[in-house]
Amino acid sequence: MSPHISAKKEDIAKTVLMPGDPLRAKKIAETYLENVKLVNEVRNMLMYTGTYKGVKVTIAGSGMGCPSIGIYSYEFFNFYDVQNIIRIGSAGSYKKEIKVYDVYNVKEAYSDSNYAKIAANIDDKVIKAGEKLYSLIQKVAEEHKIKTLTGRAHSSDVFYRHGDVMEFVKENNLDVVEMESVALFANAIKAKKQAACLLTVSDNLVTKEVTTAEERQNNFMQMVEIALETALK
Ligand code: ADE
Repeated sequence: MSPHISAKKEDIAKTVLMPGDPLRAKKIAETYLENVKLVNEVRNMLMYTGTYKGVKVTIAGSGMGCPSIGIYSYEFFNFYDVQNIIRIGSAGSYKKEIKVYDVYNVKEAYSDSNYAKIAANIDDKVIKAGEKLYSLIQKVAEEHKIKTLTGRAHSSDVFYRHGDVMEFVKENNLDVVEMESVALFANAIKAKKQAACLLTVSDNLVTKEVTTAEERQNNFMQMVEIALETALK
């Protein structure tokens, strides 16, 4: 048990996959895992543990934003025996050529958040994914012939931003925007564990292309499969 998770220590796997939406965690667990057990429902942040091809895996909702994933990933790394966390989320694209449904493996996150400084005493604005886990994901995706794009994501604290973001995007060489990776990466660095962030593009801020909830559900599964196969390694 930890302050925000009621699961027993032995009910959380070494590798945890974290979608933002707890109901997506439920859907993924029910679709892919065997012997599934609901291990947390505190605050409705649903978390499931089961086996994928015989290997124990936990799928846990993270909620939205750095404060939320910050709490859950901290507790997984420091109160449980979790070694690897792969966020599986959605992103907005800042580039015309990065299209909806593209899968993006975040190599580094650029943040305008204070999370890394306050939580992990890291002063840098750019925080890298765990090198080992990031590279393993690239290898697994290649083996499964799933194309991934990679580079620098904007890990933002603000969804409804004032003014035009594109100047900032160009200055900082940002490809996509999401809202959680920097807290996850900073917690992993502090705990000396591995974290990675796989994203499926759900909207394009340049072309204004968007996805429907139903299409998203289906297409996000490619990303989920890369993450699950990575958990086997
Ligand atoms: N996740 C998906 N689309 C996003 C956007 N436009 N901004 C921030 N996070 C997102």
